[in-house]
Amino acid sequence: MVASMHDANRSSPESLEITRPDDWHLHLRDGAMLARVVPPTARRFGRAIVMPNLVPAVTTVAGALAYRERILAACPDDADFEPLMTLYLTDDTPVSEIEAAAMSPHVAGVKVYPRGATTHSSEGVSDLSRLGSVLEALASTGLPLLVHGESTAPDCDVFDRERVYLEETLSPVIDRYPALRVVFEHITTQEAAAFVREAPPRVAATITPQHLLLNRNAIFAGGLRPHHYCLPVLKREGDRRALVAAATSGDPSFFLGTDSAPHPRAAKETDCGCAGIYSAPVALEAYAEAFASAGALERLEGFASHFGADFYGVPRNAGRVRLVAQPWSPPDSEGEGGSALRVFLGGETLRYRVVD
Ligand code: NCD
Ligand code: ZN
Repeated sequence: MVASMHDANRSSPESLEITRPDDWHLHLRDGAMLARVVPPTARRFGRAIVMPNLVPAVTTVAGALAYRERILAACPDDADFEPLMTLYLTDDTPVSEIEAAAMSPHVAGVKVYPRGATTHSSEGVSDLSRLGSVLEALASTGLPLLVHGESTAPDCDVFDRERVYLEETLSPVIDRYPALRVVFEHITTQEAAAFVREAPPRVAATITPQHLLLNRNAIFAGGLRPHHYCLPVLKREGDRRALVAAATSGDPSFFLGTDSAPHPRAAKETDCGCAGIYSAPVALEAYAEAFASAGALERLEGFASHFGADFYGVPRNAGRVRLVAQPWSPPDSEGEGGSALRVFLGGETLRYRVVD
């Protein structure tokens, strides 16, 4: 059961038309998986910030541009979709690469994964605060730093990792570089929401559909639920409510980033299952569910379609998307056997459906 579905069923419009949304945090993978997961996003979203945690990671502008071509080749012919690329920051990223990224019209940010924090982060950054010249280059070019904000200290409790990283690493870096533009990615805690709300406009955050709809009970509902395991891990109900309040507040510092992260069923349902929830096929409807439960559907457009574009300094999309109140159930999974992808909210009933 989805946590927010316990909320009162407030008055909801029969239909809603919004500016075509963008996804400001997305994993598209590569090869055969890329071909499977690009179409659902390309059909719904105008643009997406594409994460660089491939194997090997996308660490150079040349690598990002080549990856972009592979993504475009996987788009349906009639899709009008623009992938916005990111570079994966390592301890050895040269300043010249940051400057080249800032010059490229196709690179929109640089991603920091604390080393060992999540899927494919073994080449990540060991200590962000030591990358002074890179942070200065980001600050002076205005290219945003996209942060997976979790402490990797072995004795740090998994549920405290975001709060500890914020206190120990991210907040001091934001203070030390007053021109640095930061997206605190997939925030999961009330502390992160409060921090971003109080921070200057150069600091923003993305919020995923799963962190708006579920709390950590969903990982253990009647048994272990590997398809509700993502990083940062789901948190308490109080955190979920704080995220819903932030997303539906109309504060432009909070915008849509699905963190849709496909892993084949066999890699999720195993001894040591991968972190990641595949939400792309239902993402907009899932956000609509969260906003409808909060009685705030009229705020969905800002969050989904305006604030991210404004932060990244690109025009808002011209197209429109219509949602109608028409209960439906997403398919459980896409594909067969061990390579199937379990779809977020598959089998649940959603209130809104996108009509083309
Ligand atoms: C992401 C992935 O699978 O690439 N997984 C996840 O749980 N979100 C990595 C990430 O964004 O942390
Ligand atoms: Zn991610």
